[in-house]
Amino acid sequence: MLQYISENSISRSNQLSPAINKGGSGRVRINMIRFIEDASERKKISRQILESLNEWFEIEDSRERYIAESADQPFWVSVNDDVYEGFLCLKETGKATMELAVMGVIKECHRKGIGRRLFAAAKDYAAIKGYEFIQVKTVRTGIYDDYDITNEFYKSLGFKELEVLPDYWDEANPCQIYIMSLKSAVATIATRHSYRGEYLRESVPDEDLITIAKAGIDAPSGCNKQTTDLIIVTDPDLLSKIKAVLDPPVARTAPAMIIVLTRRINAYRDRCFAIQDYSAAIENMLLAIVELGYQSCWYEGHITDEDRICDKVASILNVPDEYDLVCILPVGKAAESFHAPSKRPLSERVHINGF
Ligand SMILES: Cc1cc2nc3c(=O)[nH]c(=O)nc-3n(C[C@H](O)[C@H](O)[C@H](O)COP(=O)(O)O)c2cc1C
Repeated sequence: MLQYISENSISRSNQLSPAINKGGSGRVRINMIRFIEDASERKKISRQILESLNEWFEIEDSRERYIAESADQPFWVSVNDDVYEGFLCLKETGKATMELAVMGVIKECHRKGIGRRLFAAAKDYAAIKGYEFIQVKTVRTGIYDDYDITNEFYKSLGFKELEVLPDYWDEANPCQIYIMSLKSAVATIATRHSYRGEYLRESVPDEDLITIAKAGIDAPSGCNKQTTDLIIVTDPDLLSKIKAVLDPPVARTAPAMIIVLTRRINAYRDRCFAIQDYSAAIENMLLAIVELGYQSCWYEGHITDEDRICDKVASILNVPDEYDLVCILPVGKAAESFHAPSKRPLSERVHINGF
């Protein structure tokens, strides 16, 4: 039996995206963004970091409030050789909105991408939980140099100016509110990751499955030949039969599946774009799945190797001979946490004006 192996298999731990840095000594140091569950650890970390950042958190009352509140908030820390470099916590401010409640990075670690990586983990979390916006408040640009840097940092993350509230804190510290949509195409692309964990038992409403399928068939296709067809599967008996032939087992608890079929129709002369067509449809569907608050994984390698699991699934679903069954997309709400696999940096893969 052949087995599809991803270079980045899912981690069941709460560790997130490691980054490898070479310190001055040339020694390799790994800094890790971790989600912290324990309330007293959250308070310990936030106290240690905020007390070291006097320029930003000099008012004791508000610093103590941040520390106390951090105990109950989703909380991420960047750790390097047991040193806490920075932390971030989120707070729900409305059913659709999370606020970046507080973030601090120790001064020695500024400008090393730690805030950016903490934010990426928090943004992923908020998007996966179905929130539509993240907001953050800071002192408006033009009042203090340190806060001007903070404003630039938020803008560089993609935050947009929403409103300035002159009296929210006090007249000397006008409050700038920034907002970021988690539902833009670009935000959804950044938060999509292959999910291979367990699914919640909740069924997926038909209208959501139709929306996802529509995203699939809205994809471009070579010469508009529309070579891709889809089968939505929600019937528990059919799902059980399909899951029984998936070997090695995947998506055992998925409450729904979308099955991708292709027809090798030539677009023109002997050019067939069926693979490109169904790939575009699959990516569109994965994005729609994530945008609607579900998770999935592109299962193609698993089912199209020499075991021909695809043919067994095709026979369960009465797929006509002229179609090839090429991919299974489970759809459901994630029951486990998961993380983004590491990818080669943009600077290695994106070339400007030539290779
Ligand atoms: C053509 C194709 C086939 C894939 N087949 C499988 C598969 O059979 N099993 C699986 O676990 N993941 C499969 N994947 C998912 C990839 O492993 C995954 O996209 C990759 O590891 C990058 O991770 P990301 O999707 O989280 O960015 C497939 C992806 C593509 C594009």
